[in-house]
Amino acid sequence: MKLLHVDASILGRNSVSRQLSAAIVKRLREAHPRIEVTYTDLGAQPIGHLTGAHLAAAQGATPESPALLEDLARGARALEDFLAADILVVGAPMYNFSISSQLKAWIDRIAVAGRTFRYTEKGPEGLAGAKKVIVASSRGGFYGPQSPAAFLDHQESYLRGILGFLGITDLTFVRAEGLNVGADQRQAAIEAATAEAARLAA
Ligand SMILES: Cc1cc2nc3c(=O)[nH]c(=O)nc-3n(C[C@H](O)[C@H](O)[C@H](O)COP(=O)(O)O)c2cc1C
Repeated sequence: MKLLHVDASILGRNSVSRQLSAAIVKRLREAHPRIEVTYTDLGAQPIGHLTGAHLAAAQGATPESPALLEDLARGARALEDFLAADILVVGAPMYNFSISSQLKAWIDRIAVAGRTFRYTEKGPEGLAGAKKVIVASSRGGFYGPQSPAAFLDHQESYLRGILGFLGITDLTFVRAEGLNVGADQRQAAIEAATAEAARLAA
């Protein structure tokens, strides 16, 4: 069994989503001692944003610069790691009501027509459906369905949308929210989410 662990926070050791994604991976390692884990740290080593040059190379143009070649190889590796994974664990912080731009750059490399989705006469079809995805979600405020700010959640709702588009239906969120409301709420949210990670069905 293969697990791909992706972190996307820019806050390094102070990151809550990193703490939670690590707790989730720990739980899965305990449940499946032979699990093979691949780790991608998009904060420490970001994938470049998709550009016209990337699309041209995908259409067969010869890449001009060594930097582009290296970035193309990184993107191709991201896609292969994603395709190979049975389980994906993503640390996904909310920044400016959405996911981090590092995580978006990674998604731009794994959403590839003909590999992870295709268009058919009946509409789009996801090709990456046989995966389980667990998202470690961290956010400063509250965005639950009853909250006045619910309409501003373009983080979890986006991940649900794009992963659903790729065919993934087995999606779980382990969430710590209200992290910037106060120290007590922060501690309680992290403790509750960490305990939830430890209880996850394997
Ligand atoms: C650049 C930046 C933008 C943020 N934007 C939001 C936001 O729009 N809404 C919110 O509730 N919290 C926001 N926060 C708070 C983060 O969601 C919170 O710090 C969370 O812990 C981030 O996850 P991380 O610790 O894994 O990086 C923001 C934090 C940063 C650093």
